[in-house]
Amino acid sequence: MAEPSARLTALAALRAWRTEKRFADSIINKLLAQTELDPRDRAFILELFYGVLRNATLLDFWIGSLRQSPLDVDLRDLLRLGLYQLFFLKTPEHAAVHETVELAPKSRRALINAILRTAARRQDELRLQASKQCLAIRTSHQRFLVARWEQNFGPDAAEALCTWNNRPPPLYARINRLKIGRQDFRRAYPEARSISGNRGFVEFRAFPTEALAKGHCYIQDPSTAIACRLLDPQPGEKILDVCAAPGGKTSYVAELMQNRGALVACDRAVGRLRVLEENLARLGAGIARVFHFDWTHRRIPKELVAIAPFDRVLIDAPCSNTGVMRRRVDVRWRIRAADFVRMQEQQLKIVRTALGLLKTGGVFVYSTCSLEPEENEKVMQQLLREFANSRQMEARSSLPFRDGFDGAFAAKLIRAA
Ligand SMILES: C[S@@+](CC[C@H](N)C(=O)[O-])C[C@H]1O[C@@H](n2cnc3c(N)ncnc32)[C@H](O)[C@@H]1O
Repeated sequence: MAEPSARLTALAALRAWRTEKRFADSIINKLLAQTELDPRDRAFILELFYGVLRNATLLDFWIGSLRQSPLDVDLRDLLRLGLYQLFFLKTPEHAAVHETVELAPKSRRALINAILRTAARRQDELRLQASKQCLAIRTSHQRFLVARWEQNFGPDAAEALCTWNNRPPPLYARINRLKIGRQDFRRAYPEARSISGNRGFVEFRAFPTEALAKGHCYIQDPSTAIACRLLDPQPGEKILDVCAAPGGKTSYVAELMQNRGALVACDRAVGRLRVLEENLARLGAGIARVFHFDWTHRRIPKELVAIAPFDRVLIDAPCSNTGVMRRRVDVRWRIRAADFVRMQEQQLKIVRTALGLLKTGGVFVYSTCSLEPEENEKVMQQLLREFANSRQMEARSSLPFRDGFDGAFAAKLIRAA
């Protein structure tokens, strides 16, 4: 049987995303695993799929301007795909229109052809119309998100954030000094570019397959280092990483500890724990021991209690992910206004249980990749109220529109006597 084309695969991914309630990454990875298309076609599929998801409202605005009567959702996916090629990828009209029309059922090809040809002809006018729309339409974000960011950060920052979320992210990696020194890394991978102000991190243009396989680096945004540096783990200490999978921070903590001491890494997701174990093995984080535990259950397993108390505890909590929307493309469509408070309840539950394992005088760092006060400052305020014997020492954040990296928040508390 002939391989499905790149465009057909992207269309199948869009349909699956709409109908199957699965994460975009999992849908596209599964489809890519089933094809034998070459790397260029694979890159094209990713560009089409994520590009349409990132720009869905704007594409629908144009579809609405081109056709007033209702369209079924499958045809709308096709038009989104065609318009994305015409308006964003600047694919020549004959290719964008012809190849997209070919994907339509025979009875609808004339309609798709007519709409896409009109779009190509009226491109300047359609772009001008779009530029006059509100931020939520221009940048394809839910209105409540735009409104809350305008309120929290101001209109300019909200605009910058929405624009940032629509740009494909660079490929950043942390050099893993458990396996290779920084200078040797630069000699071995001269294509890796330095990132100003982030010595241990580099940027790649293409996926560094060999460096990753050898454990010489780990794909990670520099903002993820904030929490680990704030934790400041020392060689020989006993550290607990509460929500550890897939292990980006655990492996960095092991590196900061020079692989000396005890590092306990927990998570509740069995599949992610497997990835965590593989990552730790590949990266040479030999001091890490992995435990399966859900911290919303108050009964801590005996094996963990036996290792406690810990000198330092890192809680990289599950969150709404609003700081990493450029990487987690479908988050903007899945998120609901009630999620921030729901996440806060979960975050507090996790912290309350885990804090019991921290020694008196021990350090505790709470972190998220959320930009929302409910999941960051308000969690800290609540903890300070509940744990009167703890003091907040410091809080740091990364804001995409201010710092140029993913969004992140980290705060450090000391558990006093
Ligand atoms: C932000 S991610 C952690 C990322 C990780 N620290 C890293 O740097 O690679 C949050 C993790 O918390 C885990 N998690 C969510 N709820 C949990 C719970 N109640 N107990 C334990 N782990 C939980 C998720 O499975 C997820 O792996």
